[in-house]
Amino acid sequence: MFMEHEKEKVAIVGAGTMGAGIAQVAASAGHPVVMYDQETNAPGRAIESIKLNLNRRIERGRLSEDERDQIIGRIQPTETLKDLATVDLVVEAIVEDLEIKRALFGQLEAICSTYTVFASNTSSLSITELAASLKDPSRMVGLHFFNPAPVMKLVEVVRGHATISEVVQRVTQLASSWGKHCVQTKSTPGFIVNRVARPFYGEALRLLQEQACTVPTVDAIMRESGGFKMGPLQLMDLVGHDVNYAVTNSMYRAYFEDPRFKPSLVQKELVDAGLLGRKTGRGFYDYSDQATQEPPQSLEPQQHPSKVRVCGELGVAGTLVDMIRDADIEVDHIEGEGRLQIDDVVVALTDGRSATERLLVERCDELVLFDLALDYIDCERVALTRADQSTPRALNQAAGLFQALGKTVSVVDDVPGMVVMRTVCMLANEGSDTVNQGVCDMEAVDTAMRYGTGYPIGPLAWADRIGIDHVVTVLHHLHRFYGEDRYRVSPLLMRKFHAGRNFYD
Ligand code: NAI
Repeated sequence: MFMEHEKEKVAIVGAGTMGAGIAQVAASAGHPVVMYDQETNAPGRAIESIKLNLNRRIERGRLSEDERDQIIGRIQPTETLKDLATVDLVVEAIVEDLEIKRALFGQLEAICSTYTVFASNTSSLSITELAASLKDPSRMVGLHFFNPAPVMKLVEVVRGHATISEVVQRVTQLASSWGKHCVQTKSTPGFIVNRVARPFYGEALRLLQEQACTVPTVDAIMRESGGFKMGPLQLMDLVGHDVNYAVTNSMYRAYFEDPRFKPSLVQKELVDAGLLGRKTGRGFYDYSDQATQEPPQSLEPQQHPSKVRVCGELGVAGTLVDMIRDADIEVDHIEGEGRLQIDDVVVALTDGRSATERLLVERCDELVLFDLALDYIDCERVALTRADQSTPRALNQAAGLFQALGKTVSVVDDVPGMVVMRTVCMLANEGSDTVNQGVCDMEAVDTAMRYGTGYPIGPLAWADRIGIDHVVTVLHHLHRFYGEDRYRVSPLLMRKFHAGRNFYD
C-alpha cells in the first residue's frame, strides 16, 4: 500500500484551518508534505500560520528554531495537483460539500499512483458515498481530525463500505505515529464523537425547556459536579448555535428522525434571533464588555445536621458515608434500600423518577433527591431537588448535610433524572448503541469521548462506575415518564443488565 521508504509523503488538499493543522502535525512527525489549495495564496498563508504556531512553542521552550525551520522546510506549497502524483497519502480538507469533494477525488484518481491512499477529513459526509464514485473505492478512508489539529489528540479513522482493512490499519498506524489516539469507526452519521455527544447538548436544552434551573446553574452543575471541563450551554455558545443546530438537524435527518437526536426549540430560538454565541457576542451568555454575568444559583448556608442515618448501601454515592463521618456527624446504619435520613427527611440519589412521584412509594413525607457527581469527594457542587409534597425545611436540612461536606448546593426543579445523572445515562446509552450497531468497539467510544471532547471519563466506563442496573433503571424511568422513544434503553445495555455484567468485565 504505502511505499516502503523512510517517511511517507503526505499531500494536504485544502489549506484552510484544518489543512494547516494537519500539515503541521505531519511535518512535525518528519513527513514531507505537499500542500495544494484552489486558492493559490492559501498554502502560503497556511505555512505562515504554522510558523506562528511553532514560534509559540519556541517561546514556551518546547521547540528550537532549528526544529521549526526543519518542519517548515518539509512543507512544499504547490499550485498544481499534478505534483501530488507520487504521494503515499492525500488528506483532503476542502469545503464540506459532497459533490465538490467527489470531483476532487475523481481528479486525484487520474493523477495519483494506484498505491496512494485517499483520506477525507470530513466531519459529516459519508465515506461510503464519497468513495462510491471512485474506480477504486477500497483506498478511500476517513481521517477525522479535531480542531485545532495540532492540539487535539483524537483522530477518527472512518471505514467506508468498500474501504479495505489494510488501508484502515495503515492510516491508523500513521496517525498513531503522529502522537494521536486513533479510534476506528464505521462510516455512520456523526461517526463516534458527534453522535455520542448529542445528549450532552440535548439533555441540557431539555432541562432549560422544562425550566429545571437557570443557564449558569446547568453549566455549573455539569462542571463542578459532573467534572466536565465546560458546561454544555457554554460549549454551544463557543461552537456557535448555527453550527451546533445544523449538526443536530443533520443528525436527526440522517437517523431518520430518531427522537434521540431531536433538535430543540430553545436552540432554534437563539438561531432565529441571531444570538449565535461568542462569535456574535451573545448566546446563552452575554459576552459584551459591560455584561454582568449572572452567577449560578447556590443555596445560602443551612444548619449542619448532627446525626445522619444510613439505610443500606449507597452504591456510586457510597463515599458519602465516610465523608459524613469525617465531618464529625454521628452516623448510624440500618438495613434499607440505599438512602440517607436526617430526622424525618429521606435523602436519596436520583433513580430517574421525579421526587414527587418517588415520594408516593418511599413511605415518607419529606423526600429530597441528589444528583450524580463524578466524584463526591472532589466535587465542589451537588444538585438537590425536593418532592412537591415535601417542605422547604426538608430541602434545607438536606442542603445542610452537603454543605457540611464542603459542597455548594444548587437546587433544581423536580425534573426526573436531574442534571448530571440523566445526561451521563443518555451518553452511556448512545455509546452502547454505537457499539451494539457495530460502529466501533467499547474502548473506541470511551477513547473518542475522552480525547475528542475532553470528558472526564468515557461514558461506558462511567456507566460501570454508576452500576449498569442503576443506569438501566434511570433510563427506564425516563422512558416511562416522558413516554418518548428518545429514552429507550439500548439493547446492549439491557443485555449487560440481564447478564449481571459490566461493559468492562
Ligand atoms: P476552511 O474553509 O478553513 O478551508 C477550506 C479550504 O479548502 C479553503 O482554503 C478553500 O480555498 C479550499 N478549497 C475549497 N474547495 C477546494 C477545492 N475544490 N480544491 C482545493 N481547495 C479547495 O475549512 P476547514 O474548517 O479547514 O474545513 C475543511 C474540512 O475539514 C471540511 O470538510 C470540514 O468539515 C472538516 N472539519 C472541520 C473542522 C473544523 O472545526 N473547522 C473539524 C473537523 C473537520
